[in-house]
Amino acid sequence: MNHVELVTSTPSDFRTFMSGFPSGVAIVTSLDDAGRPWGMTCSALCSVTVEPPTLLVGMRAESPTLKAVLRSGQFAVNLLHAEGRGTAELFASGDPDRFDATTWRLPPGAGGPHLVHDAHAVADCRVSQLVPVGGQRMVFGEVIRITELSDASPLLYGRRQFSTWPA
Ligand SMILES: Cc1cc2nc3c(=O)[nH]c(=O)nc-3n(C[C@H](O)[C@H](O)[C@H](O)COP(=O)(O)O)c2cc1C
Repeated sequence: MNHVELVTSTPSDFRTFMSGFPSGVAIVTSLDDAGRPWGMTCSALCSVTVEPPTLLVGMRAESPTLKAVLRSGQFAVNLLHAEGRGTAELFASGDPDRFDATTWRLPPGAGGPHLVHDAHAVADCRVSQLVPVGGQRMVFGEVIRITELSDASPLLYGRRQFSTWPA
C-alpha cells in the first residue's frame, strides 16, 4: 500500500476523508402542517445513547424536510435495504414529487411516512434537541417505536458510491 501524507484540511480534503468512512443509508421522513409528506436521503445518522434511546440526524438548514420535522416535532428514520438504491437517489434529488414514485404508509402514531418497500426497519422519533452547526442542523430524536420490516441486507454508502453488504 502506498503511503500518502496530506497536511491540508480543505473542504475537499474533509469530504475525501469522510468518504473513507462508509455508512448505511436512511431516508428521514415527516409530515408538514398540511399533512404533505417530506423526506430526504441521509447518511449523517448515528446512535447517541440507549437510555433514553436516542439518535442524531444531520440535515441541511434550508431543507423542506427539516422544516416539516421541526414543525411537527417528529420524524421517522427509514433504514434502506440494498434494493432501495433508486429511492435513495430519488430522495437526494430535490424532486418535489418524490413520494409519488415510492410506496409509503402512515401507521397510527408514526413520526413520518414508512417506506415499506425500500426500508428494512423504521424508527419513529420525537425531536428532543436541536443543535445548529454551520449550515447543518443536528436533530436529536428519542426513539418511540421500532418496526422491523424485513431481514434484507442494508444499503451502504462510501467512497462516493452505493454498495451492498457482502454475502
Ligand atoms: C448517500 C447520500 C447521503 C446524504 N446524506 C445527507 C445527510 O446526512 N444530510 C443532508 O443534509 N443531506 C444529505 N444528503 C443530501 C440530501 O439527500 C439532498 O440534499 C436532498 O435533496 C435533501 O432533501 P430536501 O430537499 O427535502 O432537503 C445525502 C445524499 C446522498 C446521496
